[in-house]
Amino acid sequence: MRRTAVFLILAALSAPLSAAPLAARAEAFRPSYHFAPARNWMNDPNGMVYFEGEYHLFYQYNPHGDRWGHMNWGHAVSPDLVTWQELPVAIPETDVMAFSGSAVIDWDNTSGLGRGGRPPMVAVYTGHDPKGTNQSQYVAYSNDKGRTWTVHGKVLDIGSAEFRDPKVFWHAPTRRWVMLAVMAVENRLAIYTSPDLKTWTHASDFGPAGGRGKNWECPDLFELPVEGGKPGEKRWVLGINLGDNAVNGGSGGQYFVGDFDGARFTPDPTWTAAPQWTDWGADFYAAVSWNDLPKSDPRRIWIGWANNWRYANLIPTYPSRGLMTLPRTVTLRRTPEGYRIAQAPVREVEALRRDHQAAKDVVLGAEPRALPVRGGAVELILDLDTGTSEQVQVAITDGQGYQTLIGVTAATNEVFIDRTRSGPPFAETFPERHIAPVNLSKGKVRLRAFVDQSIVELYVNDGQQTITDRFYRGGGELTWSATARGGTATIRTLDAWTIADPHKP
Ligand code: FRU
Repeated sequence: MRRTAVFLILAALSAPLSAAPLAARAEAFRPSYHFAPARNWMNDPNGMVYFEGEYHLFYQYNPHGDRWGHMNWGHAVSPDLVTWQELPVAIPETDVMAFSGSAVIDWDNTSGLGRGGRPPMVAVYTGHDPKGTNQSQYVAYSNDKGRTWTVHGKVLDIGSAEFRDPKVFWHAPTRRWVMLAVMAVENRLAIYTSPDLKTWTHASDFGPAGGRGKNWECPDLFELPVEGGKPGEKRWVLGINLGDNAVNGGSGGQYFVGDFDGARFTPDPTWTAAPQWTDWGADFYAAVSWNDLPKSDPRRIWIGWANNWRYANLIPTYPSRGLMTLPRTVTLRRTPEGYRIAQAPVREVEALRRDHQAAKDVVLGAEPRALPVRGGAVELILDLDTGTSEQVQVAITDGQGYQTLIGVTAATNEVFIDRTRSGPPFAETFPERHIAPVNLSKGKVRLRAFVDQSIVELYVNDGQQTITDRFYRGGGELTWSATARGGTATIRTLDAWTIADPHKP
C-alpha cells in the first residue's frame, strides 16, 4: 500500500515532464543495434532458423496496435545477426492466434511439404483459441525462404488450454523430430517425437522442478561441449522460462543441465533443486536458440525479449513497444559449483565498434570522475579492482539528472544494475535494483556493458552472470561517470567504443 502511494505521488510530480513530448522523446531514444519492429507490439522471439545465408527472426507481433493482442508471427531477416530487415507478417492470426513456437529446415522433406526438390521451412507453433479454451500445436510452411507461408493446420491437440510454445529440432542419433512444449500452469515440460513433423507421439515429461510459478513458458533444449570438463564431454541444457516469480520477481529464465536420449531429459545427478537463472535482470525473457546454424558454425545462439510481463504493456516507447536483446552465444562450463552456462554477445556486434577510447589506472573515490565514454550506443569494458572501497558505481546520467547505475559491492560479492532513479516513473514494479552474486577474486571483476539508449546488457566476468535491464530517460545526451564509496578503487583498464547503427550506411 505504502509503496503504491509513494509511486502515485512520484508519478503525479513527474507528469508535466512526461506528458506532451513523451512520444517524440521515446522515438529519439529508440535503440539502434538491438532489434525492434518499426511499429506496434512485439513479444517473444519465435522460429529462429538459419537458411541459405539468412538468419530468420520471427516474433510475437500485434500488427494492429502497441499492446499485446491479435498475435501474428512478425518476421525479420539478417545476413549477420545485427543488421535486421523487417519483412511482412509471416504467419497470420486465423481463427486462432499464432502463439510462440519454432521453425526448422526439413532437409529430407520428411513432411512432404517441400516443393521442387527444395527443403521446406516448417514452423510449429501454438494456435491459441481466442476464447481461451484450447491451445494446440499447428504447422505452417514456406517454400520461398520464409517470405510466404501456408498454414497446414493443427497437428497436436490434447484438449488443454495451457499447452504451448513448441520447440522442435532434429535429433540425429534417433533420426526423428523432437518437440518440447509446456503444460504451462502445471510447470511441466512435455516431450514428443515425430518422423514427419505432423504425427506426434508423447515420449516423456519433466517437472515441476527448479523455479516454479505462473507459468512455465518457451522451453529449449540443446547439447553443448563442456569447457573444463572431461575430454569430449558434452551435456544438454534445458531452458525453461518463468512468466513470473523469477529471480527478479517478474519474468525470467532458468536452466537445467543433464542428458537427453532423444526421448527423456534427465538432470545431472549433481544438479541441485535451487533454480539456476539465465540472467539476473528483469528484461531477458523467452530466450530460445537458433536452429540449423551452418555446420561450419558450432555456436549455440539465443536471443531474448528484453521485457517483463509485470510492465510490458506500459513501457514508454513509441512507435513500437518491444525490443530484443543482442543475440548471445551460450557456452557451458564445469565450475567448482557445478555446470554453469556463460553468455557473450555474438562476435558480429564487434564489427560495429567505432571511436575507441582507452584509459588505465583510473583511481576512483567519492568525487565523480568523468569516463571517456560517449553517448548512448556504447560498449564499455572495465577491469576493476575494488581496492578498499565498499562499492563502486558507474553512473549513466541523462540531461535531466535521471541516473542508471552499474555497481559492484565488494563487501557482499555483488554486481548490480540500479534503475530506481532511471527515468520518469511509469510502473510501480519498474524502479528496482537487480543484483547478481559474483565471486570477486581478490576484489577484481571484469564488466562488459552494452548500452543502447534504453537498455543495458551487463556481462560479468566473461558472461558467467548477465544482468539485462531496460531503463527510460528524460531528455539530453547520456554522460558517464564513476565513483567509489568507503575507500578507493581502481579501473585497471577501460576500453569503450561507440557502437554504430548497423542500419545506417
Ligand atoms: C510468453 C508467452 C508464451 C505465449 C506468448 C503469447 O511470453 O506468454 O507462452 O505463446 O507469450 O504471446
